[in-house]
Amino acid sequence: MYTSQIDNDFAQSVKKGLGSSRQKRIESKYFYDAVGSTLFEEICRQPEYYPWRVETSLLRHHSKEIVGMFDENFALIELGSGSSIKTRILLHDLILRQPYVYYFPIDVSKEMLCTATRGLGSEFPNLRASGISSEYVEGINRANKLIFSNPQIPRRKLIIFLGSSIGNFEPKDSISFLQQLRSTMDKKDGLVVGIDLQKDKSVLEAAYNDSMGFTARFNLNLLTRVNRELDGNFDQHHFVHHAFYNSRFKRIEMHLLSTKEQEVYVGRLCETFGFQAGETIHTENSYKYSLEDIRSMAEKSQFTLRAAFIDEKNWFSLAVFSPG
Ligand code: TRP
Repeated sequence: MYTSQIDNDFAQSVKKGLGSSRQKRIESKYFYDAVGSTLFEEICRQPEYYPWRVETSLLRHHSKEIVGMFDENFALIELGSGSSIKTRILLHDLILRQPYVYYFPIDVSKEMLCTATRGLGSEFPNLRASGISSEYVEGINRANKLIFSNPQIPRRKLIIFLGSSIGNFEPKDSISFLQQLRSTMDKKDGLVVGIDLQKDKSVLEAAYNDSMGFTARFNLNLLTRVNRELDGNFDQHHFVHHAFYNSRFKRIEMHLLSTKEQEVYVGRLCETFGFQAGETIHTENSYKYSLEDIRSMAEKSQFTLRAAFIDEKNWFSLAVFSPG
């Protein structure tokens, strides 16, 4: 059987995560296979999942202003682009002022990239989109190489990182991630980050427990992925989606909870993993920040916070960072 690097990384990660003698875990980047990415699009359409709606409306209201904050033409790089639906708002305003827009969406899901970029070409004739299927930092390095090897592409770049994905890093890792981004950027480049804000626990918990059950299916899809790609025998009927706000750490925690004592065999790893009734696999954190936290995040990663656009309920923020 042909095994790709991704398969191997996934196998290593699951081996380590499920083999842990303390809290079991599976890394959240593995959510986004073709099925997971489609389910995530569904989550975004659910009425309880306010981050998508509020961020979209912030973009609608402020995209002109954001584009206007940078006076030279620039190339657009998007981290975790998914369907690129929200990006269209920015693209629309960018295309009004630049003859061509070079757009580099970066996403781990090849299928999603393919669908997203296919539609864009016909919608925006002056758009040159090249999808990069990889993880974030590798993707930026690849985009940078493309930018510097083609004299027609503007040297300036605007990096966008939407959907509150920064909240899925541990806070200290989000600083080192921002520092890494900073090191790929020039003084006149810009960075726009969507950041979810602290708010009432009931609003937060509803967003990660939608009544149609898409978030549950999205979470459980990780087990299907282990079964399919690593020859596992997880029984989805004996695990449930479990998401709650941890107010001490100011984060939504997502888990898969074993409803009974059971053993699961994963063929590719030649290993059996035991679960107690009620034991969980921790699959994701989504940290919620305050405006003060955002200021300090910028400072610690040597960015200037140029603007933070916030909706009237104070639920979500679009932060614009410049190096220096
Ligand atoms: N970045 C998104 C968030 O933290 C990711 C997300 C939304 C997510 N819903 C989820 C991740 C459900 C796992 C499960 O809001």
